[in-house]
Amino acid sequence: MNSGEYASATGQADNGYICRWNVAESSFLSPQNAKAHRKSMKHFVLFIAASAIQNAGYAAPTGQDEPLTKRLENGLGRTPALGYNNWNNGGCTHATADAALKVANLLISLGLKDAGYQYLNIDDCWASKARNSTGHLVADPSKWPQGIKAVADKVHDMGLKFGLYGDAGIMTCAGYPGSQGHEVQDAKTLASWGIDYWKHDACYLPCATGGTPPQCWDSRSITKEYYATMREALAGAGRPILFSMCQWGRDSVWTWGKDYGNSWRMSNDIANTWSSLAEIAANAAGMAQYAAPGGFNDLDMLQVGNGGLNENEERAHVGLWAIAKSPILIGTDLSKLKQSTLNILKNKALIAINQDSLGKAATYFRPSGKPAPVNGRLYPYWAGPLSDGVVVGLVASDGAATLAFNFADVPGLGSGSWNWSEVFTGTTGTGTSISAALASHDMRVYKITKAT
Ligand code: GAL
Repeated sequence: MNSGEYASATGQADNGYICRWNVAESSFLSPQNAKAHRKSMKHFVLFIAASAIQNAGYAAPTGQDEPLTKRLENGLGRTPALGYNNWNNGGCTHATADAALKVANLLISLGLKDAGYQYLNIDDCWASKARNSTGHLVADPSKWPQGIKAVADKVHDMGLKFGLYGDAGIMTCAGYPGSQGHEVQDAKTLASWGIDYWKHDACYLPCATGGTPPQCWDSRSITKEYYATMREALAGAGRPILFSMCQWGRDSVWTWGKDYGNSWRMSNDIANTWSSLAEIAANAAGMAQYAAPGGFNDLDMLQVGNGGLNENEERAHVGLWAIAKSPILIGTDLSKLKQSTLNILKNKALIAINQDSLGKAATYFRPSGKPAPVNGRLYPYWAGPLSDGVVVGLVASDGAATLAFNFADVPGLGSGSWNWSEVFTGTTGTGTSISAALASHDMRVYKITKAT
């Protein structure tokens, strides 16, 4: 490989990335899904046995011949979504009007709204367990005494946007009504409530290996057609609604997601650990070329603030998500945020990189003399283009390290002198190389521009 090229995990130029079926099968660890995960592992084992015979001759079920080439042209998500989602902090427990309004107030009082976090998204468990007599979704009256619209209106009055969660299958992962067969009706309901963002999950969808399991572990699970149906329903609902696809990277969604949604989860659920976020980021490096204005790889909601990461790791978590152009959805109790976490989340220069109008995601580059990336393992050297320069990320993925590179080795740069500024330390400089001594799992993010 020549210097100045992006590197894939095999050490080839990046367009040689091999889409792996197993992005992170073992890290589907949200509290709500732990049980489902154990169940689903049985399907996984069955799949392994079945796939050898089925792989070549698999026939898609009928109904899949919708226009796959159609692009999502809803004008939304030109940059990755920034906001909040309640799921990573207690699962079902905070899907209530009270909790939503508390979050809205905190987004404002903590300065997060001003920093760009505009979406306030409520995840699973907001609905009543049954639809009403006309088949409409209804909010659980004990959680939303005045209904969803009253809360969405308040949230809008506060200058924020309001998001909700649902599912492409017959039930959500936590057992609330899914939209399968009700897509048009549900999209209209969402529009009438003033919903701005819809996360569409994939539990209880038909599986190629049979049945409608909580999660289908078959890489050929048939999600496309259901996401196309919801895309069309939302497009006809009469309100711009950002379409956030959540089918955990099935069917190599990163290769087709942009025609369907504004973002697509590319992994199973993030756990509150360094190894989980490192694994997700490592896989995202191989999907960078699929991110563009209107559609982004979604690396999942943040775990910062939830106690499983130290400050260095929190920096790397948000830093990696930002340069990978992932949506950044805070997933912790905002009333208990440490100042250090808040500072990371509000880092202006980092958010500007994530929100850069070019919308191109960073990926690995290999400085001369450094070992090649290894598939599935987080590599220290990242770079990507910006509308007005280049971003370089350095992450001490394997423990404390001095990470160094020459600008000439960075794609988009070259020999000569470059100006750089580092977003976390605020340090700046001009030169031909950088060397940074980092504590274990810490990260530095450099914006690099031509020296004048
Ligand atoms: C999972 C999803 C999580 C969360 C959860 C709710 O499928 O990946 O982000 O939404 O369902 O039940």
